[in-house]
This record gives sequence, structure tokens and C-alpha cells, in this order.
Amino acid sequence: MSDILVDSNAGVTTVTLNRVDKKNAVTTAMYAAMADAMQEAADDASVRVLVFQGHESIFCAGNDLGDFLKSPPTREDTPVFRFLQALPRFHKPMLAAVSGAAVGVGTTMLLHCDLVYAGDNAVFSLPFVNLGICPEAGSSLLLPQMAGYHRAAEVLLLGESFNAQAALAMGLVNRVVPASEVNALAQAQARKLAGKPMSSLLEIKRLLRKAQASLVAQQMADEGATFSRMLHEPPAREALTAFMEKRKPDLSRF
Ligand code: COA
Repeated sequence: MSDILVDSNAGVTTVTLNRVDKKNAVTTAMYAAMADAMQEAADDASVRVLVFQGHESIFCAGNDLGDFLKSPPTREDTPVFRFLQALPRFHKPMLAAVSGAAVGVGTTMLLHCDLVYAGDNAVFSLPFVNLGICPEAGSSLLLPQMAGYHRAAEVLLLGESFNAQAALAMGLVNRVVPASEVNALAQAQARKLAGKPMSSLLEIKRLLRKAQASLVAQQMADEGATFSRMLHEPPAREALTAFMEKRKPDLSRF
């Protein structure tokens, strides 16, 4: 069974993260599959809406940390950058259904979704500081815009997780429902959207996102270069090695 499942039905393409035994940690191959699915959904006129979902117990544990150690992404054409860049460029409505943990990119990708539904078991975290790296996917711009500076600074500087109700208060999610209902709710909302005139959906999304589009691109370029540099530096090497060795990292010496 593939780690990324792609299904298209009645104008809705659903991308399911399906590496549950590794908490849906995203490998290079998974980034490539998701970027390809987004490109196909963007190009296919019969696709009107895109939905990301995980499993009822886990949305996404972020980047596969073993991959980061073995082959840190450096070039812009790597699958991870291809996926991150596809997020703000995707011009059709994009939804996410989040249950369980949403770590790192599992949370930052939500900032590019138009509608986000969370299960009551959802736990969000942006633990970049605990890994000796910096935010990605434009989150250092989009999160303060969405949640306010102080809330964004708190979750990014401390790297502590927050629950579904806190995410609702921050404006990161639209609604919180029982975990067993979240994927069905996102599908129902996607089907509603697929029944609307496509020209209106596209123009509304374009206008909603227009003011920040070039700022997001600039911020992502800065974040990407900084992230790639920091991955090679001692704090990140210690944090990633400690994760793989299942021990607590010693970061206070850096
Ligand atoms: N990269 C690689 N493997 C990961 C992973 C990641 N980001 N997240 C989880 N896994 C693996 C674990 O190593 C473990 O593998 P094993 O069964 O071979 O030992 C398996 O997935 C289960 O993870 P575990 O930590 O036992 O599950 P949990 O339910 O106790 O905790 C998380 C779930 C998501 C809270 C926890 O795994 C976690 O914090 N992961 C790291 C998240 C992270 O820092 N991501 C990077 C963000 S930039």
C-alpha cells in the first residue's frame, strides 16, 4: 500500500497520508507524490477541490527526521521544496481534515488551506526551535497574520504543542468535531464547494490571497535558505541524532 493515496471523485481529489506506523512522517517520496497529485489536480479541469487528510489517530508527524539526517534538502528542485511551493500556488479550494498530531509541516501546510476541520483529538506543534531549525512554508509570515504576533511568537519560540480548542481560538481551524467525524465533514464541505461555480471559487480565492502572494514567496525563499543552512549546524545535528537514538537532545549548550 502506498504511503500517499490519491482518490478523485465527483470533482474532489483527496490526498491521504497513509504511513500510519511512522505517524505519517513525510519522506522525500511522499513529498514528491503529494506535489505530483497537486499538479495533476491543478491541471485537471474536472477537479474542483483538493482535500488533505490523515488517519483518525494521526494527521502528520512532520518531516521524516531520518531523511533530514541522511539527505537534507538543499536545492530548490527537491521534492520537499516542490511541495512547499505548490501550497501557495494551488489556485483551487484546498481543505484539510486534521485528527491527532499535526507536527511541523503537518501544521504549516494548514496555513495554505482555505478550510481546516479538526478532530477533538488534534494536537498541533511547530517544534522547529527544539530541532535547532527555523519555520518553513511561509509560517513565519502567515501564522502571525492569522493568530496575532504574540500567539505566533509563543508557539514558535517555545515550540510547545497546542490543542484543537486553542487552534480554533487562533483562527487556524474552522471547526472542531469528534475525531471520527472530521474526514466526513471535510468531504461534505468539499462536495458543497464542488457544486459552486468554478469561476467564482477561483476569483474569490485569488482575491483573498492576492495581497500576500508575493510576500509569501519572499518569506518562503528566506525561510528555505535559512532552514537548509541550519540543518547542517550543530544544534540540528544534535537534535536529529538524539531523535533517531531515542534520547533527549542536549540543546542548552548551543
Ligand atoms: N520522522 C521519522 N520517524 C518518526 C517521526 C518523524 N518525524 N515521527 C514519528 N516517527 C516514528 C517513530 O520514530 C516511531 O518509529 P518506531 O516505531 O520505528 O520506533 C514511530 O514513528 C511511532 O512514533 P512514536 O513517537 O512512538 O509515537 P507517539 O504516538 O508516542 O508520538 C509524535 C507521536 C508525532 C508526537 C512523535 O512521534 C513525535 O514527536 N515525532 C517527531 C515530530 C517532529 O519533530 N517532526 C519534525 C517537525 S519539523
